[in-house]
Formats: sequence, structure tokens, C-alpha cells
Amino acid sequence: MTRDFALIVGGASGIGLATAEVLAAEGYELALFDQNAEALAAARSRLGQGGWRARTYPGDVSDASALIAAVADLEQAGRLRILVNAAGILHLGTINEISEQDWDQLVQVNLKGVFLACKAVIPVMARLGGGAIVNLASQSGRTKSYYSAPDYVASKAGVIGLTMVLANQHARDGIRVNCVAPGVVETPMVAAAYTAEQQRRMIDTIPLGRFARPEELASVIAFLASERSSYVTGQTINVNGGSFMQ
Ligand SMILES: NC(=O)c1ccc[n+]([C@@H]2O[C@H](COP(=O)([O-])OP(=O)(O)OC[C@H]3O[C@@H](n4cnc5c(N)ncnc54)[C@H](O)[C@@H]3O)[C@@H](O)[C@H]2O)c1
Repeated sequence: MTRDFALIVGGASGIGLATAEVLAAEGYELALFDQNAEALAAARSRLGQGGWRARTYPGDVSDASALIAAVADLEQAGRLRILVNAAGILHLGTINEISEQDWDQLVQVNLKGVFLACKAVIPVMARLGGGAIVNLASQSGRTKSYYSAPDYVASKAGVIGLTMVLANQHARDGIRVNCVAPGVVETPMVAAAYTAEQQRRMIDTIPLGRFARPEELASVIAFLASERSSYVTGQTINVNGGSFMQ
């Protein structure tokens, strides 16, 4: 039996890991690519408790050769049908508080990483006759942000633009490319970044009165990755509790 794979870049934690669980429950074979080898091992054992297996690829998303090697390995193992780009890092502050090195480091991961993963995967999906790519943008890339720094905001606006051009250029290959734009999600990234006071201020602006749980992102990502959204491409879907409405 040929196996259908979902590759989740940044799949060892937070939104990526929650998405892995939903896609595994939908019958996909999992491939997790993440720079944090320890978190990858923990994710594999957590998935194992649910009866699911995952191939794991430790690597940096800004390293094209690591992504190409992972994708080549998957091409041998089965059909690569889904790519979720969930690797990311967050900086807070103003332009006066981030350095040129901060900018380069963040853009390498959050924007170039999405470009490199798509570049590695799109020819494979095209050969298979199609697939679905879901990128993690952010509310910060669409409207004024709470505390995000200029490098983070620019990277996420860039991901939205990249999503649109790839959706347009590869629709005839059968590949759909979409984004989700989360508001604030209860993940290790958020726990590490914000003070309790900052979290309280953000929650005050959210009509639903709380942050998202990772699985609430995962269900939208799984929808965009599935045939249930077969006529949706090039879109950015807000998942933000109503904090930004458009
Ligand atoms: N949590 C939020 O509130 C929120 C809001 C908007 C957007 N997002 C976006 O969602 C995505 C997932 O965020 P999360 O909250 O789940 O964060 P997280 O920190 O829980 O998970 C991110 C994962 O990316 C991996 N990663 C980081 N740099 C990497 C690199 N160079 N190469 C490979 N892997 C790398 C980390 O090891 C980690 O496993 C990110 O792109 C983030 O910007 C998150």
C-alpha cells in the first residue's frame, strides 16, 4: 500500500505538533523536521502513545541541503501530499531594540525557511499530480501587532506574499498553497515571550476572551490541507478569536 505523508516543518512543538496529531488521526504518515532534536524525540514518543509513528528529521530550516535530504528520503518512502510550515521564532520590541543580526537570524528562519521548504517540496508534489501546503503567518503580518518586532512582522507579511505567488504559479500543478494567521496561541513560544501583564493586556482585546489552544489552529490547518478545501488557494485564514476581523 502506498503511504501518504505529511511533512511538518517545526513539528516538534506547539502548533506543528498539534497539527501532526490531527493529521495522524486522519490517516497520514508523519514526517517531522525540526532543529530541536530533543523535542523531536519527545514528540515521537508522545505520538507513539497515540499509536502513531513519525519519521523525524533533525535540521535547520534555513539549511537547504537538510530539507532536500529529508524530502528525498520521503520520496522513497511514499507520497508527499502535505507540507505544513510551522517552524518559527519570535522577537518583540521596536526597531531600536533589534539589531541587524537579529533581523538576519529571524528572516532566515521565518521567511527563507518557508521558501526553502516549498522549493524542496513543490517539484515532488508536482510529479505526484498535486498536494497542499499550509504556511504559518500571523495576525502581526496583517494588522498592527501587540508587541512583535519589525523583523517578525515583516517576515510574516512576506510569508503571506510568498503563499500567494506560489498558489498562483503552481495551481496548474494541482498544488494549493494557503496560510493561517493566528492571533495568540498557548504554545512554548508565547509562554517564553510575554509577561503575565502583557498576556492580560492582549486577552482584553480578544472578543472570545482567551488565547487559542494549539489544536484550534491544527483543525484549520488540517482543513486547508484536505480535499474539503479543494477550491481554496492563495488565502490567509484568520484564527484569532475575533481580535482582527476582515
Ligand atoms: N504561538 C503563537 O501565538 C503564534 C502566533 C502567530 C503565529 N505563530 C507562528 O506559528 C508557528 C509555530 O509557532 P509555535 O507557537 O507553535 O512555536 P513553538 O516554539 O512552540 O514551535 C516552533 C518550532 O519551530 C522549531 N524551529 C525554530 N527554529 C527552527 C529552525 N531554524 N529550523 C527548524 N525548526 C525550527 C522549534 O524548534 C519549535 O519546535 C511559527 O511560525 C509562529 O511564528 C505563532
